[in-house]
Amino acid sequence: MVAAWLPNDFIRQVESLSGFPRGLGSRQPSSLFQYAVHTYHVFVRVVTSLRKPLTSKQIACSINKRLSEIREECQELVLSDGQVLEIMKRLLTELNRGLGKATHDTADVKCFTTFVQDLPNGTEKGKFLALDLGGTNFRVLIIELGGEHHFDMKSKIYAIPQKIMLGSGKQLFDHIAECLANFMVEHDLSSERLPLGFTFSFPLSQRGLTKGYLVQWTKGFDCSDCINEDVVQMLKDAIARRNDIQLDVVALLNDAVGTLVACAIRAHNCRVGLIAGTGSNACYVEKVENVELFEGDKSKPYMVINTEWGAFGDNGALEIVRTQYDREIDSHSINAGKQLHEKMISGMYMGELVRLVLVKFTKSNLLFGGKGSDMLFERGTFFTKFVSEIESDKRGTFTGCRQVLDELGLSHATDQDCVNVRYICECVSRRAAHLVSAGVATLINKMGQLSVTVGVDGSVYRFHPYFHDLMVEKISELVTPGIKFDLMLSEDGSGRGAALVAAVACRDR
Ligand code: GLC
Repeated sequence: MVAAWLPNDFIRQVESLSGFPRGLGSRQPSSLFQYAVHTYHVFVRVVTSLRKPLTSKQIACSINKRLSEIREECQELVLSDGQVLEIMKRLLTELNRGLGKATHDTADVKCFTTFVQDLPNGTEKGKFLALDLGGTNFRVLIIELGGEHHFDMKSKIYAIPQKIMLGSGKQLFDHIAECLANFMVEHDLSSERLPLGFTFSFPLSQRGLTKGYLVQWTKGFDCSDCINEDVVQMLKDAIARRNDIQLDVVALLNDAVGTLVACAIRAHNCRVGLIAGTGSNACYVEKVENVELFEGDKSKPYMVINTEWGAFGDNGALEIVRTQYDREIDSHSINAGKQLHEKMISGMYMGELVRLVLVKFTKSNLLFGGKGSDMLFERGTFFTKFVSEIESDKRGTFTGCRQVLDELGLSHATDQDCVNVRYICECVSRRAAHLVSAGVATLINKMGQLSVTVGVDGSVYRFHPYFHDLMVEKISELVTPGIKFDLMLSEDGSGRGAALVAAVACRDR
């Protein structure tokens, strides 16, 4: 018989599991074939079920194998020293191309002029309104600067619904004007004509301190009829349409610039403003003689430059380090091919990057016993704050990690899965910190000052438990020997920075 060489109890198991009647004698030839195929499958199942339980040594061995496979697969997310140096070299080339008249148009790092040439010294006084638009929320602030570093601030956050982020420019600016008018009523300011600083955190080609043309939307915004339009004019038009409030727009600035300015009153050597939040960007102080696009009065020696480094790599400079995950993030974004550097760093993408790695490793059976969950397989479910929560666990404990995994329907994760998930988060956040550090070191080395404070803001920097330390460590390795630097958390750069730039502008009028 077919199974004559097999032990009897094995045959019995096959027969009972197969669901076919015992004995082969009564079967017709066609069903015999089906029987053979079916029996083969059952054979495999039974052999698997008869397998002896693994010894602890075997288990440890298989865990180690998986661990080393995960580490190997994650290697593409780890930047080597050589890659970091190459990125710095390429970034410097792009910065110089952005500053140059002949190369600006084709440069991916645009280095926009900001018209901010004087930094505040802390003695600025007055009452200012500020608008802060740049993420999913929008803020209106009233700030009273009292000189002597003293200030008083009240603010309110308003949501920007998705349909406005993707609607028309008119809708967006009408919404902003409406929030502003409501805020002024609530704070009894409607009868005053106050100076206003507008923090608009998107790439602007600035033609003056109160004139800036939108170059492109970033961070999930895509309002129609705004590209190449002056956003201050759009704000003024929306206010005029309402006709119930009055104000004087005296300054238009980027959040990175606000961050630099807000830190400059405490640290007089603050020369870089950095954002590691929903988006990523940096500004720095450049010699006016190097700013070829600036055609104004060159008697003041310096100007703050808004690099818009989020777009670094859009010309291909980052292909040496981009991975399959970066490509997937980009291809599903609403601005494919744009902001490639930002997509490797910022809070808008970091969680999703981790999720893509988790999905890949689950599918290849390296995580969660190969069993994912609906949530894990759905885009946008792994928030960037999860990365911070997971990495905040004390090593060897998994409270934060388990909470996140439970939320994602992955409560079947083992402790070893938790270790591996944390490792993946660390690879992604470390890479982001190293890219940002390479950028900051490039700016510090370019300026050549012996002591520089970097003003920093943004949710990734604020909430990730090690981002600051990773940056300090990496920048120290990369700056020209002899240069000292400090990273200073900005106290509300977008709000207070806007008031300060407005105050300096009013003083200089
Ligand atoms: C995006 C914007 C930039 C902003 C940054 C941080 O990169 O283009 O203007 O500074 O996000 O908010």
